[in-house]
Amino acid sequence: MDRSRTYNDVVVRQFTIATVVWGAVGMTVGVLIAAQLLWPELNFDIPWLTYSRLRPLHTNAVIFAFGGSALFASSYYVVQRTCHTRLFSDALASFTFWGWQVVIVLAAITLPLGLTQSKEYAELIWPIDVLIAVVWIAYGVVFFGTIARRRVNHIYVANWFYAAYIITIAVLHIVNSLAIPVSLGLSYPIYSGIVDAMVQWWYGHNAVGFFLTAGFLGMMYYFIPKRAERPVYSYRLSVVHFWALISTYMWAGPHHLHYTSVPDWAQSIGMVVALIVLAPSWGGVSNGIMTLSGAWDKLRTDPVLKFMIVALSFYGMSTFEGPMMSIKTVNALSHYTDWTIGHVHSGALGWVALISFGCVYALLPRVCGRQEMYSVRLVELHFWVSTVGIVLYVTSMWIAGVMQGLMWRAVNDDGTLTYSFVESLKATYPYYAVRLAGGVLFLAGTLIMAWNVWKTVVTGDRRALQPVLEPA
Ligand code: HEM
Ligand code: HEM
Repeated sequence: MDRSRTYNDVVVRQFTIATVVWGAVGMTVGVLIAAQLLWPELNFDIPWLTYSRLRPLHTNAVIFAFGGSALFASSYYVVQRTCHTRLFSDALASFTFWGWQVVIVLAAITLPLGLTQSKEYAELIWPIDVLIAVVWIAYGVVFFGTIARRRVNHIYVANWFYAAYIITIAVLHIVNSLAIPVSLGLSYPIYSGIVDAMVQWWYGHNAVGFFLTAGFLGMMYYFIPKRAERPVYSYRLSVVHFWALISTYMWAGPHHLHYTSVPDWAQSIGMVVALIVLAPSWGGVSNGIMTLSGAWDKLRTDPVLKFMIVALSFYGMSTFEGPMMSIKTVNALSHYTDWTIGHVHSGALGWVALISFGCVYALLPRVCGRQEMYSVRLVELHFWVSTVGIVLYVTSMWIAGVMQGLMWRAVNDDGTLTYSFVESLKATYPYYAVRLAGGVLFLAGTLIMAWNVWKTVVTGDRRALQPVLEPA
């Protein structure tokens, strides 16, 4: 068949498999560091296995390798189907796949070696930063090139979210990484002091808003209506949701710097804007969930839809919790405690990972020439195992966090501290054990998925792949 009459599903398949592989790797490291917090001797006195080096390895692997691959896979899948055309360039798309994998492997080598810029979520050394920028620009060319040659007038709203995420991440990454190289492994940021902190948390917060949120909302807007076989609940709301979200998120960064030497007015702006972001976030949640109106019965039989709807519920919870934690008096209690870790993972496991799993299960059969996954029962099993895992992880960290905050601020009548830090650490151990159990369950679910994905790939019939849809 003429290649222009088919979609480029090869790159979608490659990124989907990468999602599963890196998900398993990143979560294994997560389980290891969770265990190290209980039993520090698990670093075996080997510098590469120390907590301080493995923690950024975990965050980079789960956010950029696992989450990033899911975003590449789904955006390439969605943009082709909604624009009724093949990707703009196969060669460039393939370059983005291999380039991204090289970035991940270099990260996995340099971080355990202790080579880092020490900026959270932007740890990688400058040569890798340059490669990321090149791959990202190529990604933009493939994505926007495909939009430009679409065979329908309309640009579906999922693509708006993907577009915002691609452009914003390019800007954030380039601006936050500006540095003067001294040697291959060392550079100094061009910013200093409080400006450096402001730029870093402008980057960090918008990495949450655009990497961990906007792109995944793109997934939601395509796959929930598809799976529910219903149009999106309100197209108008999706447009309002889009503009409200992208115009507010940018200003909320300073809530990561409460009670620092950042000017007080800037902290207050960060707090107020974070409270405002609640509205568009919940607008998106309602739009996604209400898409099921009239089709709720599908939740009983379709575990893929269960993944997506529970993901939205966690998105709703974490975007309620986030604004609350932005209030300065609440942050005075939550900051530095495991409450933050609970918030992070209710967003990361509950929202990012669950919507990604749903998306993998929805698109993989289609790019392997099958109707459904190899085993739908295993999808159901994965759903329950991972949901129980999240609940254990998040509730244990919430309780531990509030307990720590209260213990640290407790004072005796004579003004001395009631508890030493070590006492609060000892009190936290049982919760670390529960979190570890939750993490093991979540990882087990991912391994179940890996097996199901493998069987789906090898039993697929490539001759049954979908041809490009003709415009209506
Ligand atoms: C099996 C699953 C997972 C386990 C057991 C796990 C465990 C951990 C642990 C122990 C930490 C360090 C906490 C601390 O320093 O006190 C951490 C941090 C972090 N994890 Fe995970 N994790 C898992 C999955 C994920 C996923 C899927 C994501 C993102 C998509 C993620 C994102 C993060 C982030 C962003 C941090 C840093 C949080 C901060 O600095 O406040 N994790 N994780
Ligand atoms: C309206 C939405 C949200 C707001 C206003 C918000 C607000 C906050 C606040 C106040 C903190 C604690 C800052 C500190 O004390 O250091 C925080 C931490 C964090 N949040 Fe959110 N959050 C939101 C949604 C999310 C979602 C959906 C995710 C994940 C998908 C997420 C990921 C994170 C991460 C990774 C951190 C840790 C940052 C660090 O390393 O210090 N947030 N967020």
